[in-house]
Amino acid sequence: MSGPCVRVSAPIPEAGLRILGRAGLEIRMGGLEVRGVDALLCLLTDRVDARLLERGDRLKIVANMAVGTDNIDLAAARRLGIPVSNTPDVLTEATADLAFGLLLAAARRLVWGDRLVRTGGFTGWAPMLGLGMDVVGRTLGIIGAGQIGRAVAARADGFRMEVLLTDKNAGVPLAELLERSDFVSLHVSLTPETHHLIGERELRRMRPHAVLVNTARGPIVDECALVRALQEGWIAAAGLDVFENEPELAPGLADLPNVVLAPHIGSATVGTRNRMAEIAAQNVVAALEGKPIPNLVR
Ligand code: DGY
Repeated sequence: MSGPCVRVSAPIPEAGLRILGRAGLEIRMGGLEVRGVDALLCLLTDRVDARLLERGDRLKIVANMAVGTDNIDLAAARRLGIPVSNTPDVLTEATADLAFGLLLAAARRLVWGDRLVRTGGFTGWAPMLGLGMDVVGRTLGIIGAGQIGRAVAARADGFRMEVLLTDKNAGVPLAELLERSDFVSLHVSLTPETHHLIGERELRRMRPHAVLVNTARGPIVDECALVRALQEGWIAAAGLDVFENEPELAPGLADLPNVVLAPHIGSATVGTRNRMAEIAAQNVVAALEGKPIPNLVR
């Protein structure tokens, strides 16, 4: 019988691989074959469903290199007694930075301006050129008052914004938040309850000058309804880092001038991704050494 081994589904930062190597684990790179391995270190793009988990004849942990675990069938993992871990906390600030960056970029038409300059359309300062929205002193509605939502609220403080929060148990009701906010930023996990939390009805409740920001998960927003909202002026603009059927975009989304698009890079700083890889690896090592798993998802 071979020694303990871990399947790492795709290349991850060296910092994580070093921890696995130092613990004496055999690393099998690539793919999702879990038969004959003790641990799976996977990504949010890996669909870890019941069938896959059932193949894991000696699987002792599924360590997701992400805070979200909506790619994993947690109920099946529980039924099979396979612990699942994630990488919370470390990506809070980086993701909040990106959410605020998208908010500013959408409000101040930064991508439109960049294109104009590059394509030679900038012929000089003009009083009406590139008019966007004021941010300071406006109202920011944050849906999901977890760590990232609260980190976005801290940034809004510097812009002297009024912050409305909605959460399962606290804050203002969703309808009121949508009606009162100039900016709405999403920070809930994707669950059956939050799937299409923002659909046609909710978008129509928002103010015509409002900006929607999503750095959480694409399916929280009904993306086809969002395209219509942006085309027909139910809201003014959006900043999106995540998409409903990633990496595909809803028809028409990429043609809109009033949306800023990013390729799911909320946590993509060198430091954050290194820490995420390290934490995922530490969870694997703990599980295989029979120690408490630091970031067990319950
Ligand atoms: C996560 O971790 O869930 C983010 O979406 C990617 O860093």
